[in-house]
Amino acid sequence: MGLTEWVRRDQQPAEAPEPVTEVAPTAEPVAAIEDPLTEQTPVESPVVVPEPQPEAIPVAKVSEPAPPSVPERDPPAMDWDALRAQVARCTACALHETRTQTVFGVGQTQADLMLVGEGPGEQEDLRGEPFVGAAGQLLDRMLAAIGHSRQSTVYIANVVKCRPPGNRKPHAVEADACRGYLEAQIALVRPKLIVALGQVAATGLLGEDAPVGRLRRGSHVHGPSGTPVIVTYHPAYYLRQPLEKRKGWDDLKRIRARLAEPA
Ligand code: URA
Repeated sequence: MGLTEWVRRDQQPAEAPEPVTEVAPTAEPVAAIEDPLTEQTPVESPVVVPEPQPEAIPVAKVSEPAPPSVPERDPPAMDWDALRAQVARCTACALHETRTQTVFGVGQTQADLMLVGEGPGEQEDLRGEPFVGAAGQLLDRMLAAIGHSRQSTVYIANVVKCRPPGNRKPHAVEADACRGYLEAQIALVRPKLIVALGQVAATGLLGEDAPVGRLRRGSHVHGPSGTPVIVTYHPAYYLRQPLEKRKGWDDLKRIRARLAEPA
């Protein structure tokens, strides 16, 4: 039997307080939601006195780095005379400082076949016409083998219109500066087929930096104009590697077959 300890009432500990029942906040009166189809007396919204805010500390604006400056240029002209004149006075890249003259393009201004090379060499810079040196003479013979010539059926242009010093390959920024001119030439000639002569031309037209050996096996399209493109070696390559001429002949036959296809 346990002992019950008696404690006097006035010495007993205070009773634990009643638990407080939380009262859910009263829901918004439904009438406050306006029915857009029924006219209702507008319910005045209570005036809300904004609490004073601590003064905002001004934050110094971090200035964004300036974008690289691209010189403002007129869009390429869309008729032959104006485009030729625009190219002749172009100073969009450093190549204009060392050129004798610009080398615009040659051939038929409306042609099914357009050839694109990389840029003028020494002879072209002196004469103002593309492909007039040793590689150009070979190109003329190749074209003749499939019944074409710059005098009667093709248009020829380069990715860049000014000679890169020492016949180096044009830099990407130089090709970019000239791109609008080449695209305008393509839009004016409206060829059925473009042939890219060498890797620089292929990259300039297709934006693909792959070896010609791979590109010549694929089928390509010049994006801005939607014109089919065949990639082949630059004629200068056959001057250096005459045993590769067989590939050039295979490509010429493909070009001829492509041009014979119905549009
Ligand atoms: N090589 C080119 O790519 N273009 C020319 O005009 C001459 C040589």
